[in-house]
Amino acid sequence: MATYVNTLAEIRPKHWAVPWVIFSISHFQRPPRHPIIRKRTAGIIITFSIFGKRHEQEQKFKNMNQRRNFIKKTALAGTGIATLPNLTFGISKSGKKDKLNVGMIGVGLRGTNHMNNLLQRDDVNIVAICDIDDVRIKMALDAISKSGGAKPKTFGKNETDYLNLLALQEVDAVLIATPWLWHTRMAVDSMKAGKFTGMEVSAANTMEECWDLVNTHEETGSHLMILENVNYRRDVLAVLNMVKQNVFGELMHFRCGYQHDLRGVLLNDGKDAYGKGVEFGDKGISESKWRTQHSILRNADVYPTHGLGPIAVMDDINRGNRFLSLTSHATKARGLHDYIVENGGKDHPNAKINFKMGDVITSTIETAKGETIIVTHDTTLPRPYSLGFRVQGTKGLWEVDGNRIYVEGKSKYDQWDAADEWLQKYDHPLWKKYGEHALDAGHGGMDFFVDHAFVESAKLNVAPPMDAYDAAAWSAVTPLSEASIANNGEPQDFPDFTRGNWIKRKPYDWMKDTY
Ligand SMILES: NC(=O)c1ccc[n+]([C@@H]2O[C@H](COP(=O)([O-])OP(=O)(O)OC[C@H]3O[C@@H](n4cnc5c(N)ncnc54)[C@H](O)[C@@H]3O)[C@@H](O)[C@H]2O)c1
Repeated sequence: MATYVNTLAEIRPKHWAVPWVIFSISHFQRPPRHPIIRKRTAGIIITFSIFGKRHEQEQKFKNMNQRRNFIKKTALAGTGIATLPNLTFGISKSGKKDKLNVGMIGVGLRGTNHMNNLLQRDDVNIVAICDIDDVRIKMALDAISKSGGAKPKTFGKNETDYLNLLALQEVDAVLIATPWLWHTRMAVDSMKAGKFTGMEVSAANTMEECWDLVNTHEETGSHLMILENVNYRRDVLAVLNMVKQNVFGELMHFRCGYQHDLRGVLLNDGKDAYGKGVEFGDKGISESKWRTQHSILRNADVYPTHGLGPIAVMDDINRGNRFLSLTSHATKARGLHDYIVENGGKDHPNAKINFKMGDVITSTIETAKGETIIVTHDTTLPRPYSLGFRVQGTKGLWEVDGNRIYVEGKSKYDQWDAADEWLQKYDHPLWKKYGEHALDAGHGGMDFFVDHAFVESAKLNVAPPMDAYDAAAWSAVTPLSEASIANNGEPQDFPDFTRGNWIKRKPYDWMKDTY
């Protein structure tokens, strides 16, 4: 086994006084990162949820009352018929709540998106918010006031003031949307404070952090939900339905990844998140303030969960199956350097930076049941957005690129079907029930569902659909890919975060229409 490469030690200075992670500025109005593309087909809207549209919610308050009524009704209906998720190792500590008191940590672009979704529900009170950027706090307070909500308590006088939010008795659930290096630390503190915890992706940066999430969940009995919204994409859930109904036969092979040209996010002009510019760190704005440093210091797939989360669910990972091992390879790094030279000139100081992260990182995972999964991280070369999904079994396959499906005996021999008809036929019960309303919620609707699942699981205080074991296994790709790349593609074993229990854990019932 290769030596484990923990470059977080390089990245994370003592006491988290991260000099390069400047947690202060993000008070700009970020334009949509990507357009939302909706393809209308006969009688259905297939929504290809493209990341971005982060501020669309800020314009959506005018639709709020109508939607709140709907959500109130459906939430109540849902509680009567809810099938409890598998409790697995979680300890249910209390009965169901009608109203959930939520504390938000991080109300930057993503946190605001979540907050605006929560504000549209009658079963949630936002009772506390924390952000070290005053401007983001003010924006959040304005949004809460406009929605008719009571003024929450505010925190953010320093980087650890979130602990004072966690000390509030009245907070039932906490939603964390901060830069990556804070995720595990905040989630661990939140679980220790007895809160139902939701955390943005990716969950953990190192193997130690992956274990911290699992161990803390087990020690405290507090639940952790990784807020992987792509698991709720309409096409993804329709394909999951097809998988469950055995349309593709026995599963064999998957492809997925995060293939998104982020050059204009990782580098900008310090004024506008998408302003043409080549700055980052304390001269940048938004994610360039904290995310770019990972590209300088780590050669790893640092963002695996958007692709891997949906595939892990289809393949029953941690629930009858598990990730066994991984090999990873990285190309050389050219994209960010070339972008700097092109937009800032060859004499710009940043043109001298050696980026460690290869432009395309390809990992192959083997599972206990004999499937393979190719995961790609490709964020610094010019390319259109795609998560590159392929789901292949003994009878056929879906490929998102090309929007096509082939099923032996159903499709014409050796010819692809357009996927639309299949996806429409297998549209997921959740989308059938909530789809019209979900489309308002950001990222083509999937954000509605991930927040809905968070709220409904938290009200019941039961294990969420995507739990601490999932957060750990999916995020483990980051340290394992780093170790494999550093050792010429040597295979790396996944720890069994379930400690053997994956054999007997039952899959979560993803096909119900409640959450
Ligand atoms: N699921 C998705 O589709 C999706 C999309 C975008 C971002 N994200 C994830 O959401 C997270 C946040 O991303 P973002 O784009 O909103 O970044 P951002 O930089 O806009 O927001 C982060 C916020 O956290 C605040 N913060 C930093 N340190 C803090 C601390 N110690 N205490 C309190 N607040 C602190 C910052 O002031 C900022 O307002 C990241 O993990 C990112 O990967 C997920």
